Amino acid sequence: MIEEVARHYGKGGLLERILAALAQAGKDIDHLTIDDLAPVDEFHSRRRLATEELAGLLAPSPTDRVIDVGSGLGGPSRYLAATRSCRVSGVDLTPEFVETAKALTERAGLADRVDFRVGSALDIPFPDASFDCAWSQNVAMNIADRPRYYAEMHRVLRSGGRLAIQDVAVGNGDPLRFPVMWADRPEISFLRTPEETKSLLVAAGFQIKEWVDNTETALAEAAAERNRAASNPTDPPILGIHVVVGPSFREKIRNAGQAMAEGRTRLINAVLIKP
Ligand SMILES: C[S@@+](CC[C@H](N)C(=O)[O-])C[C@H]1O[C@@H](n2cnc3c(N)ncnc32)[C@H](O)[C@@H]1O
Repeated sequence: MIEEVARHYGKGGLLERILAALAQAGKDIDHLTIDDLAPVDEFHSRRRLATEELAGLLAPSPTDRVIDVGSGLGGPSRYLAATRSCRVSGVDLTPEFVETAKALTERAGLADRVDFRVGSALDIPFPDASFDCAWSQNVAMNIADRPRYYAEMHRVLRSGGRLAIQDVAVGNGDPLRFPVMWADRPEISFLRTPEETKSLLVAAGFQIKEWVDNTETALAEAAAERNRAASNPTDPPILGIHVVVGPSFREKIRNAGQAMAEGRTRLINAVLIKP
């Protein structure tokens, strides 16, 4: 199952595609900024806006050590290091994503504060109580064993540490239409309801500090984005998550967008505390 998740994300040629698109967009690919990268490295609902808001809720300090679980291409890790001056370690299942995250971090001049390694959220390769904060954005949807995922993030946090999550949750219970961003087939999609998610987090030992349902905000932003694109149909952007996802992007974004618009999914953000 875990191998299938890694195969879903890592399909080859990713760094080359990203660098080629950045160069085509006129960026200096040897001296990238987090803003240059934001259209291609924030691989989650609401992109950079979500990261900004979640970082505001988590409020890490410059002395905090942060673990980003399911760090993807490293956009949120680099954002936290660049804007909050904290040290971030990313862990991700997909080797190609980890290699790409490392290369982009070098090119953004952040390798002294951000590192990445291949590893599983179900067996996080760090000792107990190693981190002040944990962060996991749009990862839970691929994880069947939620009790273990939450227990692992609880284990690597120190007492008083904070966990920030963004998750796509089950809405009205109607089935999803595949493919979506996180799965081509239902076999690697493991959504839970917001209520189940809350009780699993509490059962893992967390206290809920913030719980925000951003579904309506995400839908309004997606509608505004569609209007912008419709008013400029001959000028598709060079940079975007389509560079990462490839030719199936349109179908996946349409299915995921429809699922949220029809109430089949919800977008949850939360900050939890390990007492
Ligand atoms: C939609 S991407 C989100 C990436 C990143 N968090 C972001 O927001 O930009 C989901 C990521 O979760 C990773 N992932 C899925 N299941 C995982 C697991 N069990 N352990 C570690 N990483 C996992 C995938 O490899 C992928 O990089």
